[in-house]
Amino acid sequence: MKVAITGTGFMGTVHAEALKRLHIEVVGIHGSSAEKSNTAANQLGIAKAYSDYEALLQDPEVQAVHITTPNRHHFPMAMAALQEGKHVLCEKPLAMTSRESSLLVEAAAAKQALAAGVNYNVRFYPLCLEARERFRAGSLGPIHSITGSYVQDWLLHETDYNWRVLADEGGQLRAIADIGTHWLDLVQSMTNLKVTEIFADLKTVHPIRRRPAGEVQTFSGPLEDQGETLPVDIETEDLGNVLLRFENGAKGNLFVSQATAGRKNCLRYEIAARKGSIGWDSENPNQLWLGHRDLPNQTLIKDPALMCPSAAPSAAYPGGHAEGFPDTFKMCFRAFYDYIAAGRFSDPPPFPTFADGHREIQLCDAILQSNREERWVSLP
Ligand SMILES: NC(=O)c1ccc[n+]([C@@H]2O[C@H](COP(=O)([O-])OP(=O)(O)OC[C@H]3O[C@@H](n4cnc5c(N)ncnc54)[C@H](O)[C@@H]3O)[C@@H](O)[C@H]2O)c1
Repeated sequence: MKVAITGTGFMGTVHAEALKRLHIEVVGIHGSSAEKSNTAANQLGIAKAYSDYEALLQDPEVQAVHITTPNRHHFPMAMAALQEGKHVLCEKPLAMTSRESSLLVEAAAAKQALAAGVNYNVRFYPLCLEARERFRAGSLGPIHSITGSYVQDWLLHETDYNWRVLADEGGQLRAIADIGTHWLDLVQSMTNLKVTEIFADLKTVHPIRRRPAGEVQTFSGPLEDQGETLPVDIETEDLGNVLLRFENGAKGNLFVSQATAGRKNCLRYEIAARKGSIGWDSENPNQLWLGHRDLPNQTLIKDPALMCPSAAPSAAYPGGHAEGFPDTFKMCFRAFYDYIAAGRFSDPPPFPTFADGHREIQLCDAILQSNREERWVSLP
């Protein structure tokens, strides 16, 4: 399998490194300019630097494309790659609108021998897969509440800036689409329960931000000293609460923020069922909290020898050897490429699909509408 990557920022590098760990050859890379493509190819040890996306698509060596560009490019790039007969692994969110994501679902369905995935990598933390197996085994009984949060602080200051804050680059929703959809994808995939209704209340902390003159790398830190800045009106939300109703009657809530000082990248959930609860925190990802009513609570340390047989293979290292963020990319890509290698494209894919990505955009639409109209909104 030979792969090309488009996008040379934070995610472009993470994808290249994860693919190398799987011994999947990255034959070429494409950035926003020929110079950026060259620099990334040199830094990452990749043979080809494409001058434009069309050159990547026309490279007969390339069988799969990883899309790690800003959100507004996902739809045209994913659609063009599918039309050229390439497998596609696209960063989240899949598209800017549910119209776009529905067209991608249709296009992927029409290409039956191609895999089309969205990188909701958080699913692939070993202990999240362990929790999923425990819920799906049914021994915890029916789930009645699903609560949690995803909070960061890298957009706290008005001088913090990134393409994501602009609706025409990242989409009308920002914090929710950027990180909230990770949480929503995760809890729905773990519990096998779909969100059916939503009530959202969102807030923009900085209606005006200061934009530096040049391009800003994601998570690049404080920008106060970057010289000239320009004021930019911001319409996207910095934080928000979302009340949730699930298809089995379970109730839930999600708090999302990119302006909570001290929380760097903290996704938490607590899922309560009739016979016990399970909780997890991405800043401490090798521990799973098992809550009991009539026994002392437990902490399961990530250890394949102690995990369910079906979740154990998702842990690549023995107990006591921490696994984290980069490992989830490796495991997500492993699921994607093992599926392609097996060639059984009618089997259910073991990775987040374009249909899952589309579902997340539909949730974003409902959240946006609920916030505007101040009422519950049902999912299609
Ligand atoms: N799965 C995750 O955990 C995760 C984490 C971070 C970001 N993401 C997603 O990854 C995507 C990229 O985010 P990022 O944080 O890497 O952003 P980034 O700004 O660090 O990188 C984006 C890169 O794309 C390049 N680019 C812009 N326009 C381009 C074009 N037309 N052609 C080729 N390259 C172009 C930019 O020069 C930049 O290098 C986003 O969709 C984001 O939501 C996912």
